[in-house]
Amino acid sequence: MADSSLAQAAPGAAKTPSKTILRALAGERVDPAPVWLMRQAGRYLPEYRALRDRAGSFKALCYTPELAVEATLQPLRRFPLDAAILFADLPLILEGLGQPLDYVEGVGPVLEPIRDPRDLARLSTDRAGDHLAPVFETVRRLRAELPPRTALIGFAGAPWTVATYMVEGGSSRDFAMTKRWAFRDPDGFGKLVAMLVQATTAYLSGQIEAGAEVVQLFDSWAGVLPEDAVRSWVIAPTAAIVATLKSRHPHVPVIGFPRGLGLMLEEYAMATGVDALALDSTVPLRAARDLQRHRPVQGNLDPQALVTGGPALTRATEAILASLGSGPLVFNLGHGIVPDTPPDHVAALVEQVHAFRRPGGVGHG
Ligand code: CP3
Repeated sequence: MADSSLAQAAPGAAKTPSKTILRALAGERVDPAPVWLMRQAGRYLPEYRALRDRAGSFKALCYTPELAVEATLQPLRRFPLDAAILFADLPLILEGLGQPLDYVEGVGPVLEPIRDPRDLARLSTDRAGDHLAPVFETVRRLRAELPPRTALIGFAGAPWTVATYMVEGGSSRDFAMTKRWAFRDPDGFGKLVAMLVQATTAYLSGQIEAGAEVVQLFDSWAGVLPEDAVRSWVIAPTAAIVATLKSRHPHVPVIGFPRGLGLMLEEYAMATGVDALALDSTVPLRAARDLQRHRPVQGNLDPQALVTGGPALTRATEAILASLGSGPLVFNLGHGIVPDTPPDHVAALVEQVHAFRRPGGVGHG
């Protein structure tokens, strides 16, 4: 067990799990590395586009367990991925809090912005669980249907990232309204974040109780804040969620994805208590190796390399496997699959990851 020092330190590693991704997340070096891809379900698959047409809308797809199960399973029918990720979307929780949500073709999620504490008074965590019940039902059905080798990942947006959608009313380039509120009125903004911490903890607990074996917190916009604000709005809320989840579900690993956090990644890893770090594509492999001494890492192929395919894809994939292969690794992209991605390239990538044998050891597989 020479490579398992992290497994002994990790709170979730009391007994050795059998699914490869659970072993890697417990700190074990697994040969070959397990692989899944952020946004592995979606528009790059023709069968997904057909399913969404059948559902009538993206929201109907998310809130109808039968269809959401199908969307989750579609990529697994094509590719031997090691994990499934629940099909749902990050802003659904806001609808659960009482902020109406729409999807506009070519734009994405659109919400009526929450801009100050008075708007907050219209929201409540009381009904979120009922609203999100179809998502829990999707998780329950998936857990029953997935083959034994495939792990089920649940997810939520981290409070800072969800707050940007809440305050901007959708996607944003500069996050001006959210930052100005956080800088001007940290107490008021703190109330919003506290509400999101409570709702997100309940949402992830519900997913775990329904059968999710791993959860990932997507903090897609963690990298746009200055240092102090990172501590207040990225690290502290994530640490609070992780602490409660660990007290209730000590064996369920939590992956943190603080995209773009750069020089603050190590502090994030140590201070939040996440079990593993999902790294974006800008993290140099040498830095990723250093981080891997503290935590298993997940990542970090550029999604555009997957669109490119050919030798550029093979080389970039090989570089990640060669660099990070000496420690616990879950192979993934550095951000979600983009709609232009040819499915053949995904097949080639998964095959390459599974064919790779790490130098200098027999591994544990
Ligand atoms: O396969 C999976 O990964 C599971 C499902 C999943 C979706 N979104 C489905 C989706 C997951 C895990 C997400 C996460 C998500 N959603 C994030 C965090 C990760 C990231 O990409 O940074 C964020 C910020 C969102 C919010 C969101 N949802 C945006 C900004 C958009 C519009 C942009 C886009 O890609 O269309 C969505 C829509 C969305 N979420 C689609 C899917 C399949 C496309 C909907 C469609 O038109 O069919």
